[in-house]
Amino acid sequence: MNKNIKQKFPLKGIGKSKIFSEMDQKATLDLKWKERLAGGVSYPAGDDVLNIAKEAYLKFFSANALYKNIFSSVAQFEQDLVDMAANLFNSDKATGSITSGGSESILLAIKASRDRAKLLHPDIKYPEMIVPESAHPAFWKGAHYFGLKIIATPLLNDGMIDMKSYLNAVNKNTVLMVGSAPSLTLGMIDPISEMAAVADKNNINFHVDACVGGFFLPFIERSGEDLEIWDFRVPGVTSISADLHKFGYTAKGASLIMSRDEDIFKHQIFEWGPPHRSKDYYVTPNMAGTRPGGGIASAWAVVKYLGIEGYTKLVTDTMNYIKRFQNGINSINGLNVLGKPVMSVFAYSSESLNIYSIASGMEDRGWLVGKDSFPFKAIRFMQSPGHAPYIEDYLRDLEHVTKLVKEGKISEKEESANYN
Ligand SMILES: Cc1ncc(COP(=O)(O)O)c(C=O)c1O
Repeated sequence: MNKNIKQKFPLKGIGKSKIFSEMDQKATLDLKWKERLAGGVSYPAGDDVLNIAKEAYLKFFSANALYKNIFSSVAQFEQDLVDMAANLFNSDKATGSITSGGSESILLAIKASRDRAKLLHPDIKYPEMIVPESAHPAFWKGAHYFGLKIIATPLLNDGMIDMKSYLNAVNKNTVLMVGSAPSLTLGMIDPISEMAAVADKNNINFHVDACVGGFFLPFIERSGEDLEIWDFRVPGVTSISADLHKFGYTAKGASLIMSRDEDIFKHQIFEWGPPHRSKDYYVTPNMAGTRPGGGIASAWAVVKYLGIEGYTKLVTDTMNYIKRFQNGINSINGLNVLGKPVMSVFAYSSESLNIYSIASGMEDRGWLVGKDSFPFKAIRFMQSPGHAPYIEDYLRDLEHVTKLVKEGKISEKEESANYN
């Protein structure tokens, strides 16, 4: 043992009460993400939902989804979730797997596109993907990991994607085109049908990032609203990412990556066997090896608990307060909600005031501000049903802060936190 390094690994174990009091102490430092409206932390959908999610997680705490033959229960939960999602996304052929989150789902969509193109377009040596600038950073991460060139095309002034630039970027090396349903800052659905038609014509993949919308938009549609169609009804859509751990209201660490059919899905799979070991020795559709059975069980339980009726009610309740919230923001002189958001993901800004000064004022009043700089300087939200009780307080502070900014009494802080 090296005596020169400080001992950090505990020499002796400590008792339960000490462990938990230390953990509780540390948790007091966490920010009040629910009450103070942190931009990127979705999920509270009521204590009943939370308790189902927790109980199911604990029951399968030690289960490992890598070993389908040992944990056939978890394998069945995963298959059921995939089948239910295919149904939700209007397909009877779609298949997929559960990942650790939206980023992993996106990474797998990129890997599958690259490998499918190797088969269909063997002449492509330097594969490229096209994303609108509004896409999530995970696409840049995937391009980096998997050696693709990424072309990001601009947005128009209203926040919609510039289709001319997007379609002009398609070339003989393109293996993947991407759209969002909806995008993470403005909450708008890209014109998926128009985009995917071009991918279809070129026989390449088209991925819809529905990480935030996957468990929200289908229920808005069910409540009777007209939305841009973005799922497997659209010809050319080859894969969809949809996060269970966002608006599925399940435990963190669960997302779905869905492929249009088995033929698309097979390119997501990694197989290791001969000549190293026997056939089927290690076959995984995911980046991870071991996968927590708890997260999958928790997702299964919550989806079964809520069903279409429960999700539709949560979505309807959320949209009711979101409309009040957005009207409240728009009614403050100088502020406006950007673009045409379709769900509870949206951003607001100002043409006449420095929005980052407003961010500083709100931060000083304890709000967790999700600042964004693209496509416009803005403050953004991703709100869940459980955030409803806090919006009146927020609007009251926002009105006051806006007044102080107009009077020059608050200005932008140089150093400020950003709770996306
Ligand atoms: C549109 C969109 N896609 C992908 C992701 C990535 O999801 P995760 O953080 O679960 O990896 C997010 C996260 O907020 C998102 O908003």
